[in-house]
Amino acid sequence: MSYAYQIKTKREYNEAYKKSIEDPEAYWEEVAASFIWKKKWEKVLEWNFTAPDIKWFKEAKLNITENCLDRHIEANGDNPAIIWEPNNPDEKHRVITYRQLHKEVMQFANVLKHNGVQKGDRVCIYMGMVPELAVAVLACARIGAIHSVIFGGFSAQSIADRLQDAQASFIVTCDGSYRGNKVIPLKPVIDDALAQCDTVKKVIVLNRTHTPVSMIKGRDVWWEDEMKKAELSGNLQCNAEEMDAEDPLFILYTSGSTGKPKGVVHTCAGYMVYTAYSFVNVFQYTLGDVHFCTADIGWITGHSYILYGPLCAGATSLMFEGIPTWPDAGRFWDIVDKHQVNILYTAPTAIRSLMGFGISPIEGHQLTSLKVLGTVGEPINEEAWHWYNENIGKGRCPIVDTWWQTETGGILISNMAGITPAKPAHATLPLPGVQPVLVDEHGNEITGNNVNGNLCIKHPWPSILRTTYGNHERCRTNYFATYPNLYFTGDGCYRDNDGNYRITGRVDDVLNVSGHRIGTAEIENAINMHTGVIESAVVGYPHDIKGQGIYAYVVCSNIHGDETEMRGDITQTVTRIIGAIAKPDKIQLVNGLPKTRSGKIMRRVLRKIAEGETSNFGDTSTLLDPGIVEEIKNGKI
Ligand code: WT7
Repeated sequence: MSYAYQIKTKREYNEAYKKSIEDPEAYWEEVAASFIWKKKWEKVLEWNFTAPDIKWFKEAKLNITENCLDRHIEANGDNPAIIWEPNNPDEKHRVITYRQLHKEVMQFANVLKHNGVQKGDRVCIYMGMVPELAVAVLACARIGAIHSVIFGGFSAQSIADRLQDAQASFIVTCDGSYRGNKVIPLKPVIDDALAQCDTVKKVIVLNRTHTPVSMIKGRDVWWEDEMKKAELSGNLQCNAEEMDAEDPLFILYTSGSTGKPKGVVHTCAGYMVYTAYSFVNVFQYTLGDVHFCTADIGWITGHSYILYGPLCAGATSLMFEGIPTWPDAGRFWDIVDKHQVNILYTAPTAIRSLMGFGISPIEGHQLTSLKVLGTVGEPINEEAWHWYNENIGKGRCPIVDTWWQTETGGILISNMAGITPAKPAHATLPLPGVQPVLVDEHGNEITGNNVNGNLCIKHPWPSILRTTYGNHERCRTNYFATYPNLYFTGDGCYRDNDGNYRITGRVDDVLNVSGHRIGTAEIENAINMHTGVIESAVVGYPHDIKGQGIYAYVVCSNIHGDETEMRGDITQTVTRIIGAIAKPDKIQLVNGLPKTRSGKIMRRVLRKIAEGETSNFGDTSTLLDPGIVEEIKNGKI
């Protein structure tokens, strides 16, 4: 399989970019011709950003799994689709060919159907990084059910909120999952979530860790039993459901600046075209390469660049169950050598944490198979960039710094490996079809180079989000209302003298902790649920490994036990309400928060204090009680 849409030189990039701006419809129509459709589109694009209402490949019919699986069977059926590396290096890895994956997906799709799942139903998937997770996701897509994968680190309460919001009626989970030397319970968390959620009819449970779990009659069934039944029924086929281009493919929840996570909705055709297109072009994938994206499928990176993008391209995607530091900090490098990985795509936070172990874990590894390195999720600092370049890429692998978001579905700004130049700590140039603009706080476009502004995009690309599940107005106000006729990313950005973009971080109340996105309001809500808490304010501060750390200022009515105990209880509350990923790194108990006379918390001041500033708090003349700032500053931890 060669890719008609693959850009191979800088000049081709320039030409493609120019064409994609001058005539976006013609550009994407040509790209879309490389995919398998059940019926072609009537119109390439219809859009307005006011509603918003965006339709790509209108009236086209397709099924993404035919592009991910069926189309590869004839020519490349025995090529590995997924190489699965287990948490424990002593357990045998698995190689799943396209033919095998196709068969398993169809079989599990039949299981879903037998259990009552229909087109359009929402299926929540809460599993560890096992191959069956990929099977479950693709099986949903096969029958037109809308999957909503929830990262294994979220709590029962978070799951319940998402189940309710999505009105999900089915769950696929595991008894537990392995992470380093720990066994993480999953089914018990689902059980807790279901105690407060009555929309769920069936729970399918895969046996992974052999941990005892409760199985409720009539509701809970075992994956293995159901697969056996499907096999015995003799029906090994499952035709791919005919989906409309704009039918939802999946929902993925992500945090925003308000308390409640939003269900970002991606649809079938545009998402398929753009993830495959961006995968091939950014990483310069060539057939046979082994692509290792270290993300979890619980995040958009895993959806787009472990599953859909690579599989549409007929690629070999490596899926890793474990963590980079177990059994030791050389685990990634073991995997690279063992499976002869060609492309390694990871997060700056992982790089920084591995940097902390020095270079001895790298010694004894060849790393000669590597051709391309990538980063995603947060700004990469120059030190980490150079370390990655020198110690892992040995100075011979281009590094792609890929900027994108859950909402964008695929990479929007990045260099293309070996095609367009890299610049440390810069995502560099927009992909064809992507029109970034920088605006000031009034929405005026900032033109020219060497300028800073808020990053917006002024024309739709195929994998832009279409709505937020069950609440279109929320989608409009969040992304399309801040600046008229622009999609607002929430990121601040610098454009250098050569037109390269450097993302400087969020300009809203969203934190990026170890590449995970968490809203400060969400953490505050969780803290405030503790009985002894009156109110709280959460801000981010620079953290050497996590990028940003979580700093919580908390006002208590009564302190149970001593302060340390109180902090522990608050941490426990956040873990219960959201999950361990939202645990504050620092909790400062304070007597009050700095508020203006109108009652607004002056977060700017709290941010400065958390960053370690002791003066220069800016204009504090509107503060109700300036004394409180002094007090908080002196109590800083
Ligand atoms: C936010 C999106 C999309 C992949 C995983 C995160 C930040 C993402 C970069 C980058 C600087 C980046 C932005 C963005 N971000 N990639 N290469 N350089 N910042 O997805 O959870 O939706 O978070 O991550 O702030 O808005 P997400």
